[in-house]
Amino acid sequence: MWTAVYESKGPGQRSWTQQSPDESVRLIEAHGAGPEGSVVDVGGGASSLALALLDRGYRDVTVVDIAPPALSELRTASTTRGHQTTRLTTVVNDVLEFDPPKRFAIWHDRAVFHFLVEPIQQARYRARLTSLLEPGGLAIIATFSPDGPTACSGLPVQRWSTNSLAEFFAPEFESIETFTSDHVTPAGSTQPFSWVALRLSNTAITQ
Ligand SMILES: C[S@@+](CC[C@H](N)C(=O)[O-])C[C@H]1O[C@@H](n2cnc3c(N)ncnc32)[C@H](O)[C@@H]1O
Repeated sequence: MWTAVYESKGPGQRSWTQQSPDESVRLIEAHGAGPEGSVVDVGGGASSLALALLDRGYRDVTVVDIAPPALSELRTASTTRGHQTTRLTTVVNDVLEFDPPKRFAIWHDRAVFHFLVEPIQQARYRARLTSLLEPGGLAIIATFSPDGPTACSGLPVQRWSTNSLAEFFAPEFESIETFTSDHVTPAGSTQPFSWVALRLSNTAITQ
């Protein structure tokens, strides 16, 4: 399904496309450990966040997505910008199956967790996140907020408030910043998002 979306729509026709990933970059710079730390953008697709981080000197950026054409588009954009290819890793996988041999300092998810509408999927996501983040690591998650759309690309979503997101990931994660913001789609409509920045406890029991 997602592959077909990327094959049939250019960046300007996808509702989630941002001019610039401003909230994400600001949160990463405010709360992350700097360009030395590894970053994973789950369901990052062809988003320009990876490019923005590579522009800023990040050395270890991974983007995971289930749609291969999205990652091809991203790789082409990165090459065009002259980034060192070894700094960007792209992985075709479902975030719920993602099982790399390392942990990350930063986990970023904009507009992916909200597609997990079943409690069992949400629990699996939380388990993946907890085990793939370094202790003390930063998780940034953005979903449609309670006054946001009820679906995206024909798929239902679960809308979350900032409080409900923070509560869902507690107590292993401490909420360090929350806010809401409006995304204006390329077609001109407004989508309210809930954003949370969470810190994984240094003592969380992970596997
Ligand atoms: C609404 S788009 C958001 C893309 C990007 N995060 C952004 O902010 O521009 C959702 C993305 O998540 C990907 N996706 C959806 N479900 C996924 C899953 N279970 N695992 C990995 N990627 C997924 C889609 O292919 C798509 O690229």
